[in-house]
Amino acid sequence: MGKKGREIVEKAGVNVKELIDMLKKAYADEWIAFYYYTLLAKIVEGLESPAIASKIEEIAKEELEHQSELAERIIQLGDEPPRRFEDLVKIANCPYVTIPENVGDLKAVCKAIIEAEGCAIEVYNKILNYLTGVKADPVTFHIIRHILQEEVEHEDLFETILGK
Ligand SMILES: [Fe+2]
Ligand SMILES: [Fe+2]
Repeated sequence: MGKKGREIVEKAGVNVKELIDMLKKAYADEWIAFYYYTLLAKIVEGLESPAIASKIEEIAKEELEHQSELAERIIQLGDEPPRRFEDLVKIANCPYVTIPENVGDLKAVCKAIIEAEGCAIEVYNKILNYLTGVKADPVTFHIIRHILQEEVEHEDLFETILGK
């Protein structure tokens, strides 16, 4: 735990518990996205599926980085991520990715990813707005801004693949 690091956030008027709760929920979202994307990359079928699978793997890797960044920040703020994996699904904002029945329908696969990224974008945008409102905690702000940027890139990537 970063004692002084947490203290400056508290002194700046941030409700640290509220903030940590938001970070934990986002942390859960990242693990869930990682799980579904990793699975999706393995089960997609069809002529164009190897190219799409490698793009899905790319973004899955970034979701895994996001969970790590969020875990570190939660710990710095004096708490820790849930110890039970099953709690992640319970607290998540985006508890699943809708895998299409037909995994050979690559357009439906792209749409499912775009939808999942949209959920993530809304979550990070909400946290950024919260932090902007209280005008404090530049450390968390920087992490969330960086993650939001990557989620927007993920959404855009799959919109481009889909050919919108
Ligand atoms: Fe992410
Ligand atoms: Fe993403």
